[in-house]
Amino acid sequence: MAFLKLAKTDQVLEGKILVKKTKFTNIILTRLDGEFLAFEDVCTHDGEIISCGKLEGEVITCPRHFAKFNIRTGAVLAKPATEPLTLFPVRINGDDIEVDYEDAF
Ligand code: FES
Repeated sequence: MAFLKLAKTDQVLEGKILVKKTKFTNIILTRLDGEFLAFEDVCTHDGEIISCGKLEGEVITCPRHFAKFNIRTGAVLAKPATEPLTLFPVRINGDDIEVDYEDAF
């Protein structure tokens, strides 16, 4: 485990995307039904910046070829992607959002 502090809880709004650049990759933070989620800002189909896509509830749509993913599970909901999104464990430490960049799944 290697947690990285990425934002304050009040910076991440329900249903909105906050992109944080790290030296490892760019990570999207969002809040869904009060739960903080983190996933890589990369579409697994062909590497598009998925934060430029549309987030509706727990589904994000890639802007390039319109693959859809569930942001809670990473599951592919619509092709052409076949591999799930890369998700990161999140923990809240006080009012800090910390992401475990070593244990991506
Ligand atoms: S790069 Fe995202 S669907 Fe093709």
